[in-house]
Amino acid sequence: MRQALEQEKLRAVYDRVARRYDFQHSMLTARSDQRGRRLLVDKAVTADDEVLDCGAGTGSTGLLAARKAGASGKVMLLDISEAMLAVAKDRARRARLLDRLEFQTGDMLDLPFADNSFDVVLSTYSLCPVYDPAIGARELFRVTRPGGRIGIAHSAEPTGPWVKWLADRVENVVWRIPSLSLGCRSVVILPTLEQLGCKLIFEQRIGVPLWPFLVFVVEKPDGIHTN
Ligand SMILES: C[S@@+](CC[C@H](N)C(=O)[O-])C[C@H]1O[C@@H](n2cnc3c(N)ncnc32)[C@H](O)[C@@H]1O
Repeated sequence: MRQALEQEKLRAVYDRVARRYDFQHSMLTARSDQRGRRLLVDKAVTADDEVLDCGAGTGSTGLLAARKAGASGKVMLLDISEAMLAVAKDRARRARLLDRLEFQTGDMLDLPFADNSFDVVLSTYSLCPVYDPAIGARELFRVTRPGGRIGIAHSAEPTGPWVKWLADRVENVVWRIPSLSLGCRSVVILPTLEQLGCKLIFEQRIGVPLWPFLVFVVEKPDGIHTN
């Protein structure tokens, strides 16, 4: 795994790209990013859920979750970048979903929420740039209620030696331009959650061969209280 960008630098990158982020991310992922968000919300969120979207960015996943959770659900969008959240707020206003959403600036490696607070906790592509994805996974687990669901989409290693070789070469170049790479690299998350006792209820690889994504949903065991 590549070493992550330093957190302040990462925040500055996202503050800078916020207004063009949706276009850029969708282009670079051949639009498979939105497929991952849809799959995740479809499998993890149900009506009336209280949802936390970590590293929510411009709100693409949060807005989908707010629609699925319905008028009596609630979705909290958390991100370190105020500029990304400002775009999310504009989108929520235009979609008339502001009353179902809350926005908070914060660090997903040290979440400002009590243990067992949410029915569902989501992260779409936001564990890819953090310096220690395993700490992030444990924080997501901590704030999910027992029996609740954790849904994650992240970049994964391509399969096949030639594709891997090519992806590595391309990444070597892209990695030198943080406003292009967005600090994202492939990570491994599921084993951390399985070690904590989570049960896998959905898993799918999607995306283009050079930049595949793993999308999965796990259930936090009932009876485990983290406080
Ligand atoms: C690749 S974007 C994903 C955004 C959104 N979830 C999506 O589906 O498009 C990564 C997001 O994670 C946020 N982020 C990075 N490190 C973070 C941290 N430590 N805590 C909270 N958010 C973070 C960035 O500001 C950015 O909005």
